[in-house]
Amino acid sequence: SSYETIDVETHGRVGLIRLNRPQALNALNALLISEVDCALAGFEADDGVGCVVVTGSEKAFAAGADIKEMKDKSFADAYLSDFIGRWDTVARARKPIIAAVAGFALGGGCELAMMCDFIIAADTAQFGQPEIKIGVIPGAGGTQRLTRAIGKAKAMDLVLTGRMMGAEEAERCGLVARIVPAADLVAEALKAGAAVAVMSLPAAMMAKEAVNAAFETTLTEGVRYERRLFYSLFATQDQKEGMAAFVEKRKPAFQNR
Ligand code: HXC
Repeated sequence: SSYETIDVETHGRVGLIRLNRPQALNALNALLISEVDCALAGFEADDGVGCVVVTGSEKAFAAGADIKEMKDKSFADAYLSDFIGRWDTVARARKPIIAAVAGFALGGGCELAMMCDFIIAADTAQFGQPEIKIGVIPGAGGTQRLTRAIGKAKAMDLVLTGRMMGAEEAERCGLVARIVPAADLVAEALKAGAAVAVMSLPAAMMAKEAVNAAFETTLTEGVRYERRLFYSLFATQDQKEGMAAFVEKRKPAFQNR
């Protein structure tokens, strides 16, 4: 690929973005974020891609925002440039995205993983929001998404002490969907991605939209929203194909239409 800080591949219908700044434990600098943006936009526009996996290295998913790049910013620099605004692309992506995390997922790294739809962790994964230790607080959604994911007690513990949490604890408290052996992480994430990518893409995208609505609205509104999306899927050929295939005891061939 033509990127400097990431590697981009496709495996069948799964797009893979590998963060690749090994000299800085994949610290998220402006270039890396803009390259992730760009790669993701490519996958979103590509009819051949049904799911995206974001991963790092064995040692680090990402050790946070790039401290060396941030340290001399003034308030005006930070506020006027809104440098964290760029990160929203991942949270706003419409296709399903899986984070595959090994090693450190700290600060902005943990926040990036939480912007994805679910996290598959290697047994070596370490999550944390250590910003407090460098005189700031999480700035890319950490105080909000972590609290929604694991509750106030654990979120306060992590955000106030800055301590790291291993994969077992992260799974126990609901941050992580599954734990796999480190050596199998990318293969397992691609397998999960492939399982998602064979589904009808409109259905998968609406499933994601509906689950996300649970974080934005009341139960009554959320259930109403879900039902509208559910009924709307009866306008797709894939609903006819999926249900016909079940009745005929064969595999469905979805057209994403
Ligand atoms: C810039 C970083 C970095 C970071 C590591 N490096 N994390 N550079 N920004 N966030 C660099 C180190 O400076 C070092 O470069 C190289 O990566 C290897 O790191 P080491 O510290 O030597 O490795 P190790 O001893 O194994 O320790 C790993 C570590 C530690 C525990 C993860 O690197 C660490 O604490 N990193 C910072 C974690 C952090 O505070 N993250 C939150 C950032 S604030 P050299 O050149 O010295 O070899 C944040 C705000 C988000 O994320 C808000 C939204 C933008």
